[in-house]
Amino acid sequence: MVIVYRSNTGFTKEYAEMLGKAEKLKVYSLAQAGGEVPADSEIFFMGPLMAGHIAGVDQAVKRYHVSGVCGVGMSPPGQQVMDTMTKANYVADAPIFYLQGGWAPKKVGWVKRRMVNMVTRSMRQALREKGRRTPQEQQQLDFLEKGGSFVAFENLEPIRAWMKNLK
Ligand SMILES: Cc1cc2nc3c(=O)[nH]c(=O)nc-3n(C[C@H](O)[C@H](O)[C@H](O)COP(=O)(O)O)c2cc1C
Repeated sequence: MVIVYRSNTGFTKEYAEMLGKAEKLKVYSLAQAGGEVPADSEIFFMGPLMAGHIAGVDQAVKRYHVSGVCGVGMSPPGQQVMDTMTKANYVADAPIFYLQGGWAPKKVGWVKRRMVNMVTRSMRQALREKGRRTPQEQQQLDFLEKGGSFVAFENLEPIRAWMKNLK
């Protein structure tokens, strides 16, 4: 198995490279894979969440045998994000994972930045209006306004455990 990823602002790429190193698997961007990974190969696909959809997954499924898939988004992990992701990104017989990546407003175009800002608006407003914010709330507000990264090696644990069972 090899890892194939798509990444717009670099968070998914970071996770893919970390995972590849830890599990000793080759890592390719979707574009690279087109020339280097033969069709129907078994892959683990990782891509950024865009409006609930894992970017690149459709392309990956068309060319490869996707045995596992992972969405990387800015939302905190939890049942809600898993439910929407599972509904929107069905890959037959493949488990689906979620990793919290980050938010890099300066690296995305203004249309996309506006789309995200519209979605996070009520949350930012509620946090800003609070007279006293807990350190966590302040951190959340800074993240939504200025961006930041939640990429951490430990987050890969469920994927690594699943991969170990395959071997
Ligand atoms: C247009 C747009 C839509 C997004 N939609 C979602 C979403 O539905 N859920 C989520 O958790 N994150 C969403 N994000 C945030 C990205 O998924 C997040 O920044 C991710 O870490 C980007 O990964 P990358 O750096 O590999 O491109 C969205 C970002 C953009 C620009």
